[in-house]
Amino acid sequence: MYRFPKGFIWATATAAHQVEGGNTNSDVWIMEQTAHSMFKEKSGDACDHFNRYPADIRMLAELGFNTYRFSIEWARVEPLPGVYSQAALAHYRRVLQCCQDNGLEPTVTLHHFTSPIWLLQEGGWCSAKTPARFADYAALVTDALGDLISRICTINEANIGRVLTSSGVMPPLEKLQASKGWQEASATIGVPADTFLPFMFAVTDQAKDTVMQAHHQAVRAIRSSNPNIPCGLTLAVQDIVAVEGGSALAQLHHEQVNEAYLKQIKQDDFVGVQNYSRHRYNRDGPIAAEAGVELTQMGYEFWPESLESSIRTAHALSGLPVLVTENGIATADDQRRQVFVHRALQGVARCIDDEIPVLGYTYWSAFDNFEWMLGYEPTFGLIAVDRLTQQRTIKNSAHWLGEIARSGWLPPAL
Ligand code: BGC
Repeated sequence: MYRFPKGFIWATATAAHQVEGGNTNSDVWIMEQTAHSMFKEKSGDACDHFNRYPADIRMLAELGFNTYRFSIEWARVEPLPGVYSQAALAHYRRVLQCCQDNGLEPTVTLHHFTSPIWLLQEGGWCSAKTPARFADYAALVTDALGDLISRICTINEANIGRVLTSSGVMPPLEKLQASKGWQEASATIGVPADTFLPFMFAVTDQAKDTVMQAHHQAVRAIRSSNPNIPCGLTLAVQDIVAVEGGSALAQLHHEQVNEAYLKQIKQDDFVGVQNYSRHRYNRDGPIAAEAGVELTQMGYEFWPESLESSIRTAHALSGLPVLVTENGIATADDQRRQVFVHRALQGVARCIDDEIPVLGYTYWSAFDNFEWMLGYEPTFGLIAVDRLTQQRTIKNSAHWLGEIARSGWLPPAL
């Protein structure tokens, strides 16, 4: 049995667009509605978490978690540039208060992939205006709600565009821009296809600099509004493995997706590490799963040990305490979820034993939810959601992980 330190953060997470429903003022909503959309289905009502948050949050607290990570939707809070919705702020105040009333610390993400439509019309994640726009929004949220927030993740997976394209999961940007769905979405928003750049596809160097500037300016804005809230960036930290002459390409990929970001955040309070599997490179580039290795619903290798490697990489390159802000598995077999998390947590324990400051572990996700382009098929949740009735069903893994969270003890192998 392993005992996690006192004060360890035990969380589960969601993101606004994936669970709230009706995020109509965002770029991704527009992309979902087009005739040739690259999204398999529409988010629609999602998990109706916008209305059902009181019961949802109570359920997470009762399971044993001490923290809930969720995102505030910029497109709701600032529906037009400089126009703030007091109703949206009041809504998120009620959500935060609900966490506090249930004994859950809120970890708030300010940007989780979706952006307001107007931001895209202004040039999106390549525009020189965006960092200041994002910092203004960060200051607004901190001024209005900071008294109830325990920690802030400014931007979720700042490196996601590069990760998806360079690992071959997503086609290159030029190909996407030439696709019908992309052209329809950019026409709806009223910008040329080659300047339409939603966050998830922000792969260029200019986009990377814009995102990182936005992060730095937001951290400054948050600190001047409320210096007591720890803040950081989250990254999809890649566990990159070289095989068959792949070390040069693996190293290049590591520099572009891990190092380029981790070396720029030394002034933050923590780094949010998000990891789901490992990535193998041979001399030609990214390669498919190793024969015989089990695959998850995402097609990823079942490789929970990659979390340990990502934590070590993130800490070594940033020098920061690590908060695991996402780790989990999409599977229909809830027993395999427990095995996955158990092995991932053993890796976390080894890092702590080696004196790496790991602040906590967040399972992605609290609920089966809208998995972006893949729609509702992959099931990451600790809690199932009936798509017609919205009825929640708690899975065994939720009780199991909640008990670990409550006691701090990691039981021996399952
Ligand atoms: C994202 C989540 C997503 C999860 C599983 C992360 O990249 O932050 O929004 O659902 O991975 O794919």
